[in-house]
This record gives sequence, C-alpha cells and structure tokens, in this order.
Amino acid sequence: MIKVTDLTKAYGDRYAIDHLNFQVEKGEVVGFLGPNGAGKSTTMKIITGFMAPTSGQVEVEGFDVFETPLEVKKRIGYLPELPPVYGDMKVSEYLKFCAEIKGVAIRKLKESVADALAKTSLEDVEGRLIQNLSKGYKQRVGLAQALVSDPEILILDEPTVGLDPTQVVEMRKLIAGLRGNHTIVLSTHILPEVQANCDRIIIINEGKIVTSDTLENISKTESSSCRISITVARQHDKLVDELNKLSVVTTVRLNGKKIEVEMPQSEESVEQLAEKVVSSGAGLLEFKVESSNLEDIFIRLTGDNDAGNEIQQPEAGGAQ
Ligand SMILES: Nc1ncnc2c1ncn2[C@@H]1O[C@H](COP(=O)(O)OP(=O)(O)O)[C@@H](O)[C@H]1O
Ligand SMILES: [Mg+2]
Repeated sequence: MIKVTDLTKAYGDRYAIDHLNFQVEKGEVVGFLGPNGAGKSTTMKIITGFMAPTSGQVEVEGFDVFETPLEVKKRIGYLPELPPVYGDMKVSEYLKFCAEIKGVAIRKLKESVADALAKTSLEDVEGRLIQNLSKGYKQRVGLAQALVSDPEILILDEPTVGLDPTQVVEMRKLIAGLRGNHTIVLSTHILPEVQANCDRIIIINEGKIVTSDTLENISKTESSSCRISITVARQHDKLVDELNKLSVVTTVRLNGKKIEVEMPQSEESVEQLAEKVVSSGAGLLEFKVESSNLEDIFIRLTGDNDAGNEIQQPEAGGAQ
C-alpha cells in the first residue's frame, strides 16, 4: 500500500505539487493522469525516494520513505521518465547488475534475471548491447530493470512515451500481464492507456488532484451533462438568444456556424431543445448529441486547452 499525505514540492515560490493526498491499495492498478507539467514525475520521484519533498509524508508498505528509504526501495520497482539503461552493457548483464544493487540474493540472481527477461519478452536480445536496441526495446529493458527484484510495487512514469504505435500496444500488453501480481502506479497523458489498464484514475493538474475515482464512476458523474451541436441555415444569433432563454440549458455558444449547447443529460431536456430549434424557423441542418468520453472529461477537469492539445489520439485498433 502507498499512502501519500500532504505532499508538497516547491521550486522557489511555485508548487510543482501542492498538498497531494492519496492512497493506493495492494493490488490496485492506478493511472496517474495529467497534462505535461502537472506534477506526475515529481510525485513519482518522491514516492520512490529519488527526490526529497518540501513537506509531507509518504508511506510504502508501512515504511516511511524518508526515514527508511532502503526498505522502500527494496519494495518498489521504478521506471523513470528516462530509463536508466547503460548503453555499453549487454541486456542480461545490466539486469544482473540491477538485481545485485537491489539486494537480490546471489543464488537467486540467475532466476531473477531470467524471470525479468521472460516477463518483458527480451529473451531474444539478452546478449545484445543495450545501445544497439530500438527505443521500444530499451524501454522494455527499463521495465525489466524495474521488475528484476520482483517488487510488490511498480511505479511506471510514462512507460509508452516516444514509442511507435506497435511498440505502444506491446508495452500495454506487457503491463496488462503484470496486473494481479503487483500494485501499479502508471503515469500517462495518453487516455487509452488508462482505459486499457487501470482500475482507478487520479487526475492531477497544476500540482493538485482534481479527481480520483474508478473510470466508470468518473464517466457517470461527469456525463450527467451532455453537449449538443446544432447546425442551422440562418438566424444564428437570434437562435442563440432564444436557446439561452430555455431553463434546461446550461450554456449556449456560437462556434462559427455551429451552435454548441451544454445541458443535463436527460431525454426530456434534449426533446425540449430540439422542439425549440425546429419551431424557430432557423432551418435545422444537423442536430448531434455528443456523450462525453474520457477525453472530454479530462479536458473539462484540467480546464486547460493547451493540455488538451497534448492528448494523443488512440492509434488504430486502440482501446475505446
Ligand atoms: N528542477 C526544477 N526546477 C523548477 N521547476 C521544476 C523542476 N522540475 C520540475 N519543475 C516544474 O514542476 C512542475 C511539475 O513537473 P513534472 O513533475 O515533471 O510534471 P509531469 O511529469 O506531470 O509532466 C512543472 O511545472 C515543471 O516545470
Ligand atoms: Mg513527467
């Protein structure tokens, strides 16, 4: 279990993370989701004992990260933003080296390395120099390094960043295969990643947690409102004024020739809106009800249009 209490990291007078509180239960797979600069890596570096916080506490399996860092490091496998791989080592040599550092018993070294190679499907390249591997394979070596001591907890910082779509799918499968055997915290700004792998998501923005719940619950609460896009032939401004007078609508916005309405998701409200549009004589061309998906929810919760641009579209065949 990981317990984070009032965790803060300040750089000068700016907070990279600002009084974070959350808990990750044994066996859970939690997606740590947020736009670039939200504070994901900072939080992960502190949880894993690689960076000191400005204030606050982190407990891992009951051990305080700052008082007993070695106990914590033994129990955590960490894949940092930049995998800490040494190009001039061979894959299996490097994993053996990592296992030794992590205190794996000498008689178990061989078996631990073999396990890590098998879990990350690296057997074929175990004798190759790391510098000659593709980015996807290097990232797998980074994951193997995190796994080699068979830690209870895995902290994976954007494990698929910079990989091509095929490699992304492979990495996602590898992580899916680890479910059930480890408690996993996975940071990402790629939404299909959390949809594919996570029991729960924590959304962080500008150093603060904006929501923490199961994907299902977040979608339920957030999708209690819906967005409707209406295209009419004429009288746009007049229709906007008329719709604004309806008590059921939350907001009405004119976007070019489209009118975008937000309102509670209920059939009666939608029906009322549709009747109003038709009877207005503005010449209805299109009426589209868009239910919110995780991407909308993310953009709404992080309220950051730049962040929205960072979101990558799911690749073909990706989870939706
Ligand atoms: N060494 C540093 N000095 C000053 N600001 C930093 C430093 N490292 C990170 N930050 C700031 O802290 C915030 C959080 O960064 P980070 O944890 O890397 O975000 P994420 O991993 O979510 O993209 C960002 O605004 C970043 O600019
Ligand atoms: Mg980061």
